[in-house]
Amino acid sequence: MSVNPRVSLVDAGYRSIVRPVMFGSYHGDPEAIHEVMIANLARFSRSPLAVAATRLLAGSRGAPVTVAGIRFPGRVGLAAGMDKDGRAVLAWQALGFGFAELGTVTAQAQPGNDRPRVFRLKPSKALINRMGFNNAGASRLHHELSLLGVYRGNEGAGIPIGISIGKTKVVPVENAVDDYLTSLDLVAPHADYVAINVSSPNTPGLRSLQDGGALLTLLTALVDRAAGRLPLLVKIAPDLTEPQLDEVLSACLEAGVAGLIATNTTLRRDGLDPADQALAEQTGGLSGAPLTVRAREVVRYLTRHTELPVIAAGGIMTAADAQAMFDLGSPLVQLYTGFIYAGPALPARINAVTRNPR
Ligand code: FNR
Repeated sequence: MSVNPRVSLVDAGYRSIVRPVMFGSYHGDPEAIHEVMIANLARFSRSPLAVAATRLLAGSRGAPVTVAGIRFPGRVGLAAGMDKDGRAVLAWQALGFGFAELGTVTAQAQPGNDRPRVFRLKPSKALINRMGFNNAGASRLHHELSLLGVYRGNEGAGIPIGISIGKTKVVPVENAVDDYLTSLDLVAPHADYVAINVSSPNTPGLRSLQDGGALLTLLTALVDRAAGRLPLLVKIAPDLTEPQLDEVLSACLEAGVAGLIATNTTLRRDGLDPADQALAEQTGGLSGAPLTVRAREVVRYLTRHTELPVIAAGGIMTAADAQAMFDLGSPLVQLYTGFIYAGPALPARINAVTRNPR
């Protein structure tokens, strides 16, 4: 399939005009620019005409696929963290996304870490963030989605909606299960799937929930509560070793989760452009082009060692990167940093030029 010339025009316009202006505004503060972008998308999503026109421009979503019992109209999704509080829920389908993952939300609203907490490593086409799950809380998202009429299976957002849940920072890791259960109860009516985030590097102790015993306890409680009504997926870090990935896989299988999302951001700092060495010292998770290779290795390992579906995320900056994940057996991919660097036409471009598995 060839790329719609209008998509190429949007690409060129984004790279040559929008991105330079955007990256240079608000003293270059990526978080401030992100807030403006989400506010604009929220406004845009309230105009049915603008949404319909953009949807036409974005073209076909490619081949639909059923994963974990959910019918996805397209294979390119929005990764968690971009629209944490569900402020632009109706905008994502217009841009050609086949699903969107909201959150990560936590049981209690929380401010996250002090700013600045997002850094743009432009020569490396990367970001470092230590947001720390700033969010308005799971009950606020529940309220927002109720107002919009977005409920599981009703296509209220035009595409399936995943909701990512994490642990409230002030809740000790020992009490994590109840905290996740609170969030699950609040978001369950609105989610086509729920992603269990145990892989953010920015909440102290969170990643220890990926350890076999702790993970099994957490997942068993959540799967029991979901009671077969709602598929649960587990989002993992790219920093796990192969034995750790094996542990995660056995806990997932034993608890009965529906799939995995690989990967979250990395604590590693390899693959950076020398010009970004100073910023590399910032604490937080690295995403974007330097993560491409590692995320692929993790996805390759997982798809070879389990029948569970693996949603691929991490360093998908181009249609070729998405194709590589499809070729490894991932039925679905998610974008975050690539969407920032390549622009709003990236989902449409991937939809137009990739060949899908299965
Ligand atoms: C993230 N990511 C993320 N993931 C998650 O599960 N919950 C979250 O709240 C967030 N928040 C978040 C904020 C920011 C600023 C970034 C850059 C990333 C991780 C994201 O969903 C994705 O897994 C990684 O960024 C890797 O994909 P990319 O960015 O390389 O395409």
